[in-house]
Amino acid sequence: ELGSYDCYMMKEIEEQPAVMRKIVSAYTTENGQVAIDERIISSLLASDRIYIIACGTSWHAGLIGKNLLEKLAEIPTEVHLSSEFGYHTPLLSEKPFFIYLSQSGETADSRQVLVQTNKWAYPSLTITNVLGSTLSREASFTLPLYAGPEIAVASTKAYTAQIAVLSILASVVGRAKKIMAAETFDVASELSLAAHQMDTLLTKQGKYQDLVEKMLKQTRNAFFIGRGADYSVSLEGALKLKEISYLQCEGFASGELKHGTIALIEERTPVFALITGQSTHLQTRSNLKEVESRGAATCAIVMEDLAQEGDDIILPKVHELFTPLMSVLPTQLIAYYTALMKGNNVDKPRNLAKSVTVE
Ligand code: F6R
Repeated sequence: ELGSYDCYMMKEIEEQPAVMRKIVSAYTTENGQVAIDERIISSLLASDRIYIIACGTSWHAGLIGKNLLEKLAEIPTEVHLSSEFGYHTPLLSEKPFFIYLSQSGETADSRQVLVQTNKWAYPSLTITNVLGSTLSREASFTLPLYAGPEIAVASTKAYTAQIAVLSILASVVGRAKKIMAAETFDVASELSLAAHQMDTLLTKQGKYQDLVEKMLKQTRNAFFIGRGADYSVSLEGALKLKEISYLQCEGFASGELKHGTIALIEERTPVFALITGQSTHLQTRSNLKEVESRGAATCAIVMEDLAQEGDDIILPKVHELFTPLMSVLPTQLIAYYTALMKGNNVDKPRNLAKSVTVE
């Protein structure tokens, strides 16, 4: 199964463009349009608020999903950690709709919430990679991720697949509601373009080994910073690096640095900045300058049209709603090459299991 790969994580990182294409074709009907089961759409149209429930990387994908659902479908969306929601349930809207995001479909923390929302008889949709999994069987509806088996403990292709499926869902609902943003967004062709651009980015892996040697060899910690979607991807990049490199690593909203975190910056502290937002790139750049002037070793990961001389990693251009599909790839590669440099087991990091079936 591994073919020419040494480990599943790299195989799964490189499968991501193909997964994007698979999702587009699986959700395209005979008339050439993307479509979602009518019953799911009517249930969503009847709801006044979406609650996304997930853990870990799936929760991070949910943060991007919120942006897609609010922009394309104009449905207010909240994203909750399963383990928090279960015991500190927020005040719910009148007609909530629950989306359970789970690669494995077996995560006990999420199931615990689903059991509760089923008791309340609220409609639910599980988006999962494993059809027939517990969360899939127990929810009202299921949408498959079509990512193929994800073997490495550190989740990669499930994250981008979740974003892709959520974007199709958001865009179909948005079109049903005649929302302008959805009507002018050709989700299938934007996803296909993203797949192509992901391929381009993934063929350029030459610099990562040097980059991590330079930035992460002599350190115990590292930071990812960004704003908006870049902040959400920063959280995911930090989690991936923690999981397999064992470095202490955090993702921060870059505007928050000056409210405390910047005290941690010392000579050579590694800071990775994600810069893909049209409305926030200048602010994040200025935050990057602030940490640089305090001695940080920095790496700027920047969308092509915002790039400047000296930026380290340039992301080929995609639709602004899909920048996370691009910016997450360097963070996955940084984690992978760091684990490799440290001689860690890339696919089976210490203390972690692929699916967490206890609360
Ligand atoms: C991170 C990771 C975990 C999972 C989390 C949820 O790389 O693998 O954070 O994302 O345990 O798992 P699923 O998506 O199976 O519910």
